[in-house]
Amino acid sequence: MSDVTCVTHNPAGTRRVVTTRDLPGERWLEILTAAGYRVDVCSSDLPLGADDLRDLVGGRCDALVAQLTERWDAALVEALARAGGRILSLYSVGYDNVDLATATRLGIAVGNTPGVLTETTAELAVALTFAAARRVAEADRFLDAGRFTGWLPSLLLGKRLWRATLGVIGAGRIGRAYARMMVEGFKMDVVYLDPQPSPALESAVAAYAAYLAGRGEAPVTCRRARSLPELLRAADVVSLHPALTAETRHLIDGAALAAMKGDAVLVNTARGPLVDEAALVAHCRSHPAFTAALDVFEDEPRTAPGLLELDNVVAVPHIGSATGWTRRGMATLAAANVVGVLSGWPVWRGDVEPFLGDDPPRAAPSVVNAGELGLAFTGEPDAAPGAVSAHG
Ligand code: DGY
Repeated sequence: MSDVTCVTHNPAGTRRVVTTRDLPGERWLEILTAAGYRVDVCSSDLPLGADDLRDLVGGRCDALVAQLTERWDAALVEALARAGGRILSLYSVGYDNVDLATATRLGIAVGNTPGVLTETTAELAVALTFAAARRVAEADRFLDAGRFTGWLPSLLLGKRLWRATLGVIGAGRIGRAYARMMVEGFKMDVVYLDPQPSPALESAVAAYAAYLAGRGEAPVTCRRARSLPELLRAADVVSLHPALTAETRHLIDGAALAAMKGDAVLVNTARGPLVDEAALVAHCRSHPAFTAALDVFEDEPRTAPGLLELDNVVAVPHIGSATGWTRRGMATLAAANVVGVLSGWPVWRGDVEPFLGDDPPRAAPSVVNAGELGLAFTGEPDAAPGAVSAHG
């Protein structure tokens, strides 16, 4: 038995919904209680293990709002099914922490929260890119340490990104948003890698190129790489945006790092295990002009030995989606997924912003295994869908 405790809202509710963390904002709770559900909110901020999660599910749990930090393996998904669970509603866009095949086999919908993290996460990727390229964190530490004795011609020289080449791996929503910010802000050429061509990205860059040409400026370009080595060789910045799968685990290993330019910038705001972190530490040690900017780690919250001591590594604690607007929006979508699935409503296709307004659609905003479960769809398909392999 674990000792996790819950705060209960609307105790007489008809269905039992469990959230494994308290969530930002009030709207999500209003949505669940207005639907007539009892809501048990776990009051712990400590990491929850399998025993804690099994206790939270208990004997009856119609829906569970889960976190990316929890491992919903087959045994836990089965426990949820035995408790009558019909939806595992993730408070995240990524769902690599869930045994999706087991959930689908047991008829459990797996919800996620795409659409409200896009620009927020892309903004952090931009911030990290420049923090690494222009040595911002290192310079801050330098100043804090009292080492600034005056301006010097060669003090803390970084890498110029203006009109350089941007490599984007995974052209889903976040990858495309990041690419556009970097192209339209810093006139970078884009080379991207994705199993599918991205007409949305290519046409956005083409439109911007036409705008530049109209002003007599050199245009920017966008092309899809045929292979990972091709992208790695060409790019000054490599930013990772694919979903974490068996195929993408350690996509950036020692060989990939060796293929990159000696002064390249590697940015990871997607999932830590995309990068072999021990190989990255070794590479950063032997290539001082190479920089890495990380929001995610291979074995969070731990980091590989030596990683955080490196001057050419900038690291922040998985804050890609950490703005109030986004985190409240994620909570609203997670609650709307619960109500949508428990009410038997269809699954939404397209922009999720209507769910944030006063008159939300009668639909579940996003269910990743909706097709496999044979759920009905409604709404307009996204005009620019993310590639299936992409994170966010
Ligand atoms: C997600 O939603 O998958 C992100 O990693 C959280 O910021």
